[in-house]
Amino acid sequence: MEYKISTLIPEEQLKSRIAELGAEISKDYGDEEVSMICVLKGAVFFMCELAQNITCPVTMDFMSVSSYGSGTKSSGVVKILKDLDQSIEGKNVLIAEDIVDSGNTLHYLVEILKKRNPKSIRICAMLDKPERRAAPVDTDYTGFVIPDKFVVGFGLDYAQRYRNLPYIGVVENPDD
Ligand code: IMP
Ligand code: MG
Repeated sequence: MEYKISTLIPEEQLKSRIAELGAEISKDYGDEEVSMICVLKGAVFFMCELAQNITCPVTMDFMSVSSYGSGTKSSGVVKILKDLDQSIEGKNVLIAEDIVDSGNTLHYLVEILKKRNPKSIRICAMLDKPERRAAPVDTDYTGFVIPDKFVVGFGLDYAQRYRNLPYIGVVENPDD
């Protein structure tokens, strides 16, 4: 099945916005080390691009989570499928996330990570769909606020496809 994908955010616009986020983060943390955490798999491209635009000392670690619950409706309870390799105690944690939708995943993830006593926790989201928010999430850095449409590319998938698109697109006919 081939889906029609229309461009929402072109590659150049996306990359220049990520460069701006990197510059802002670099200014905010100064010489302090930033422990970046990538929420697999969607945030992989975003974290890599962002990390290359940060001038502070950076470490990178990866975590995989899934929401409990059936179908497409997330229950707000998160199960850790792959945990971090390194301790975050006393670290400045910066969570890189692809998109904040209902907010359930990040809300719960932040609760889990807070218990590990990091020095600070901040969230950097490439995209934000505020219309669908169900759980409160304090995003510190946001790339683009987008309308309630299903998007793919730059890490985001539709049935595991399209993660490799270098831009953000909208699936025009998702249910066909
Ligand atoms: P939340 O818990 O509803 O905020 O779920 C966020 C997760 O759902 C994201 O990390 C994505 O993996 C996925 N997601 C939400 N909206 C989209 C979308 O438009 N395209 C692709 N994945 C999405
Ligand atoms: Mg995700």
